[in-house]
Amino acid sequence: MNDTIVEYLYVIAILFFVISLKWLSEVKTSRYGNWIAASGMAVAIGGTLLAYQVQRIDLLIIAIVIGVIIGTPIALKVPMTAVPQRTAASHAFGSLAVALVGTAEYYQRLPNIDVFTLTVLCAEMILGYLTFMGSCIAFAKLQGLIPGKPFVYGGRNFVSLATLGVAIALAVYLIANPTHSYILPFMAGFAVLFGFLLVMAIGGADMPTVIAILNSYAGMSAAALGFVLNNQVLIVAGALDGSSGFILAVIMSNAMNRSFTNVLFGGVGAVKIAASTGPAVEGGRTAQAFTVDDVATILEDARSVVFVPGYGMAVAQAQHVVKEVADILQSQGIDVKYGIHPVAGRMPGHMNVLLAEAQVPYDQLWEMDRINPLFPETDVAIVVGANDVTNPAARTRPDSPLFGMPIMNVDKAKTVVFIKRSMSPGFAGVENELFYLPNTMMVFGDAKKVLADLVAALKKQA
Ligand code: TAP
Repeated sequence: MNDTIVEYLYVIAILFFVISLKWLSEVKTSRYGNWIAASGMAVAIGGTLLAYQVQRIDLLIIAIVIGVIIGTPIALKVPMTAVPQRTAASHAFGSLAVALVGTAEYYQRLPNIDVFTLTVLCAEMILGYLTFMGSCIAFAKLQGLIPGKPFVYGGRNFVSLATLGVAIALAVYLIANPTHSYILPFMAGFAVLFGFLLVMAIGGADMPTVIAILNSYAGMSAAALGFVLNNQVLIVAGALDGSSGFILAVIMSNAMNRSFTNVLFGGVGAVKIAASTGPAVEGGRTAQAFTVDDVATILEDARSVVFVPGYGMAVAQAQHVVKEVADILQSQGIDVKYGIHPVAGRMPGHMNVLLAEAQVPYDQLWEMDRINPLFPETDVAIVVGANDVTNPAARTRPDSPLFGMPIMNVDKAKTVVFIKRSMSPGFAGVENELFYLPNTMMVFGDAKKVLADLVAALKKQA
């Protein structure tokens, strides 16, 4: 009887997980997606409690209480800009849990452990332990606890891969000699070391892609554990997690026009072009600095305006004041849209989340492919703390690291207003030619401050 109920509960949980992925893929339904995923997890936990005989209910309750005490403030207090590191922390805990359960299974099943089970367990433990350490390093880099710069040295990829090779060789030895349990800590140790070396060599700004890849590893390792424990919900949830993380990492890499191997082993971000401040003359070209009053004057005659937000909007937390400017323009009959590049910011959907928080209507958010054909008819494109995602070098300069990356064609708009603090390059460290074009107005300053001043100037003008 219990078995049938458990099976039904597992089917419901799996259904909820699948629906949640569908809903999470659209901004409009994403909140429901979150709720149904959480409900699916609650059903899966209920089913699992029914499926097994709980020996020590007190330990279970203590674990739940500790989880609630730590989890609730994290969920309520972590700011939107810290979501990438929060995600890294949950991956670290999730993969450590999977790796420890796998380790416990190995010791419990000794000495009668078949080759298939041990092979799956070893793969699961290696993935789990390396994901744990990799996620801890990703967390530390994103939180600024350690420098975000990639830790690069000659032969680093060889050293990293050799470390993984040793972990795999130890796993093969353990599978051939299951009772030689002293091998296990060494195997786990080398997996941890590989996770450390792999992520240390990756730049802080590539962490979102790395997190998606680690997410994929954690999912695969959970699915492998599901086979060992004969637990269907773990197999399906792990497979969904593994494949969605992988797909996300592929989408991000494509949108940056970089290969997976380049993200993982390229050491991108080790060399940064020196930042300059203030208006600059470069090769005889001068970038023109303007004031908010100049921008307000230009906007007076505009019929259509497109905001192009980027990482700087997130840093400045300028989304609310962007919406304020947009509201004023709309009240004057100006058509307002927001152009969203798939990798603007530092995590997938970064701009969508911030603008949704500022109550920007979803139908004003235009994805890159839809908005690009509209730029030639746009009067003013206002770039708020975005840089790489607007750089025309991606179209015109084969020697540029950005070459081939799809960009927002803001340079085709009649006027481009660039709001940023200095002439510094963006994440890719590449200078932006757009700053020097005759139709570009540079407005230097913190995005929130500049836009607040623009609100005042527009109100004064009205
Ligand atoms: P970036 O190219 O990094 O440019 C952001 C700009 O914002 C900087 O040039 C900076 O210039 C400006 N800024 C910073 N703080 C500011 C503030 N308080 N007020 C005003 N401006 C400020 O960002 P993007 O255009 O969004 O492009 C994203 C980059 O990140 C791409 O290269 C992409 O490949 C990479 N990336 C994205 C992701 C995802 S999933 N989104 C993942 C990995 C990598 P100043 O210092 O002069 O102000």
